[in-house]
Amino acid sequence: MTGERERIGRDDVNDLDAIVELALDRSHIDDTIHQVTDNADAVFSWDYEKGARPGLHKLYEKAKTSQWNGETDLDWSTGVDQEAITAQVVGTEPNWALLGVDVAGTPLERWGRTEWLEFNMEQQNWMLSQFMHGEQGALLCTAKIVETVPWIDAKYYAATQVMDEARHVEVFARYLDTKLSGHYPLNVHLGLLLDDILADSRWDMTYLGMQVMVEGLALAAFGYLQALTPEPLLKQLLRYVMSDEARHVAFGVLSLREYYAELSDAELRERQEFAFEAALRMRDRLLAAEVWERMGADPRQVIRRFRGDRLEDPFQRMLFSKIVPNCKKLGLLDSSGGWLRDRFTEIGVIGFEDWADTASEYESLDEVARDRAGRPGA
Ligand SMILES: [Fe+2]
Ligand SMILES: [Fe+2]
Repeated sequence: MTGERERIGRDDVNDLDAIVELALDRSHIDDTIHQVTDNADAVFSWDYEKGARPGLHKLYEKAKTSQWNGETDLDWSTGVDQEAITAQVVGTEPNWALLGVDVAGTPLERWGRTEWLEFNMEQQNWMLSQFMHGEQGALLCTAKIVETVPWIDAKYYAATQVMDEARHVEVFARYLDTKLSGHYPLNVHLGLLLDDILADSRWDMTYLGMQVMVEGLALAAFGYLQALTPEPLLKQLLRYVMSDEARHVAFGVLSLREYYAELSDAELRERQEFAFEAALRMRDRLLAAEVWERMGADPRQVIRRFRGDRLEDPFQRMLFSKIVPNCKKLGLLDSSGGWLRDRFTEIGVIGFEDWADTASEYESLDEVARDRAGRPGA
């Protein structure tokens, strides 16, 4: 069993000050490249029987016909007035009372239209920057899976996901560069998680960290943002990225369901702990401490005003709506005497356990195929 300090680097996983300090620690950020030792063997398989795993085979065939082109399938001529769109979504003045936040004694009490809109535009810059960095993490993780997974159907499928992730990095980077107003570096909490996933020598841990946890959260976040934004280019970009992401999460669930059936309780417990560490890292990054810092407000002070002593909020909980049912489907909630069930209960996300899992949702989320067939629903 691993202690909290060893797993996440602090004794109390809910220590808000420690979470914010780490997010603001620039020593983790490198210049233009960052190297991680991936500790894994590249594995050949001489068993070339295609379709031995029908679920993966079907996913591979689907991936081949649902490819899209980030250059030509999105209308990059769309004009994006970030400030006007932000005003449309969040209004032109802060309403702290409505948000239930006491801003007395903080710089926020002097905020008017300019600061409010700037803050919300920075939030968007930050969020899309993290999506872009996360997409590169997915690109590297999935390239690693091509090498490490011993099953030929999985290597074939993973190869299509590598192409998908290249396209996702490309379109998020282009959107940030040409339509928004600034970039942020990789969030420290997200970066530590990506490093842990890439450094683990066991091939199934790449799937658990990336396909189940990171991509499960991304799928929920993209869905929320896609419904919220009135901006047509971003809406279309997210519809298409989600079509791909739903396959990626299905890839994780289908592969691990087979593999976990062979594992011992002790081995499953290690997977539970890894999943919980990933959940904490993703929750902690969402505090967006870097945005407050850029706005000239002390993140240590204002985040506490927003959160009190509670780390979770309803929006953040919603982001776990795909992860928890998928962990349940994999048997991870209830092995080891329900260890992960107890942890997910503590962080307030267990309520999603009976929501739809993502093993087959990719068929209904395939907006690329829907558009090509000219079917309604776009
Ligand atoms: Fe992606
Ligand atoms: Fe993905």
